[in-house]
Amino acid sequence: MKASDISATNDQLGFIERSSELIRKNEERSGRKLTASVITFGCQMNARDSEKLAGILVSAGFELLEDTEDADFVLYNTCTVRDNANQKLYGHLGEALSRKKKKPDMMVAVCGCLPQEPSALEKLKKSYSFVDLIFGTHNLYAFPEYLSRLLAGERHIYEIVDHTDNIVEDLPILRKYPFKSGVNIMFGCNNFCTYCIVPHVRGRERSRESADILDEIKRLSESGVKEVMLLGQNVNSYGNGIQGEISFPELLKRVCDVDGIERVRFMTSHPKDLSEELIQTIKSNDKICRHLHLPLQSGSTKVLKEMNRRYTKEQYTELALHIREEIPDIALTTDIMVGFPGETESDVNDTIDVINTVKYDNAFTFIYSKRMGTPAAVREDQVPEALVKESFDRVLKCVQENAREQSLRWQGLTLPALVEEVNTSLEGYVTGRLSNNMIVHFPGEPSLIGTIVPVRLDECRGFYYMGSITV
Ligand code: SAH
Ligand code: SF4
Ligand code: F3S
Repeated sequence: MKASDISATNDQLGFIERSSELIRKNEERSGRKLTASVITFGCQMNARDSEKLAGILVSAGFELLEDTEDADFVLYNTCTVRDNANQKLYGHLGEALSRKKKKPDMMVAVCGCLPQEPSALEKLKKSYSFVDLIFGTHNLYAFPEYLSRLLAGERHIYEIVDHTDNIVEDLPILRKYPFKSGVNIMFGCNNFCTYCIVPHVRGRERSRESADILDEIKRLSESGVKEVMLLGQNVNSYGNGIQGEISFPELLKRVCDVDGIERVRFMTSHPKDLSEELIQTIKSNDKICRHLHLPLQSGSTKVLKEMNRRYTKEQYTELALHIREEIPDIALTTDIMVGFPGETESDVNDTIDVINTVKYDNAFTFIYSKRMGTPAAVREDQVPEALVKESFDRVLKCVQENAREQSLRWQGLTLPALVEEVNTSLEGYVTGRLSNNMIVHFPGEPSLIGTIVPVRLDECRGFYYMGSITV
């Protein structure tokens, strides 16, 4: 099937109508509401996609459940960036099968990045043939159409396309939080880091028009959103490919100017494209959160070259230290990978050197995972597991030591926190997020949720704070 065969957005609204009718008939027959559950794996992009999928389900008339336990329809929105993400899905599908055996009417669907990978799709079709619907990332917006076919009784609907030129706007969305929201500014990736499957499963980079992004943010603000996170695999190349489009720093400024928006975050910044203009824009604009995620991957110039990251150890370090100097209260976080093919002890030492120099506020550390179809996967110098484990432990220890030290920087300060939720383990407490992305727990009423309040950071407990409200 070609991408051009998929019905356009307007038709999708018609398919939601059709699904509604089928659901109504089902309810009349069974005397109860149909329930659905969306389980999300992977990154912020997937989380945002799941809000779109949930929006469609609720518009069609499903009651949404947190848990899959009793759901009539379970939708898994998947990730395939590392093999453990795949394994997690297979575990969930095993459980789904045992429920489906007891409840044969239950419908199971898999979508997102994993089925875009041909060998994973084959495995799904062969070993998990009870899955009723499979679709990918490029035709996510056609979910209403697939849903209506499923509700009409069709099974084994497998709809995967390998690219799309479309950016579809204006389908219903159900946000997880009323006061904050992700906003896609671009899709896909053009960087082709040699270990990474994302460009293969998400396609080429496509930016949305800034006017559409700003319209969406205005509407979000009108509906109560105070904090937006601009999403893209490499936000610093925003606008490439659109004639006359504004730059990412300019987009940030315009987002900050939207009435009612109090905080702006973004993710992810590729170090090779991070401009001085961006640094100065963050520095001069208080609404832009004091948090920059700047993935390092490796501190070895040799490994970075083989990864196709297009920066050296020195260029990265200089950039990070310059950012720290310009914006001292910024939290710098990163992604680090250990065990890339050919990595030696001395390469790992380089990574540790960068961690100790930049002193990350936090870091995600990953063990390299072979992804089918990527250049690194066919290299013969894959690193033995035992060595990877040893290097990983060294890197993790270093990351944690630095992060612990960095976390202490804020001790005793009073900083604004956006209250996000009731703390479920401490009675009478709520949990808030600081501009630097740290979490603080403090005594407070649930009515504070969605507001920004000043909180004194009384006690650092490793990677989070215990605090008290100071109004
Ligand atoms: N676009 C972002 C990263 C998106 S993927 C960037 O370039 O920074 C998120 C993280 O997953 C990456 O930063 C990388 O550290 C990790 N990752 C990607 N592919 C991986 C692989 N094959 N094995 C292990 N980790 C991987
Ligand atoms: Fe993957 Fe590299 Fe693109 Fe990030 S920039 S999504 S790591 S290919
Ligand atoms: Fe995973 Fe797809 Fe995101 S592979 S990391 S969910 S883009």
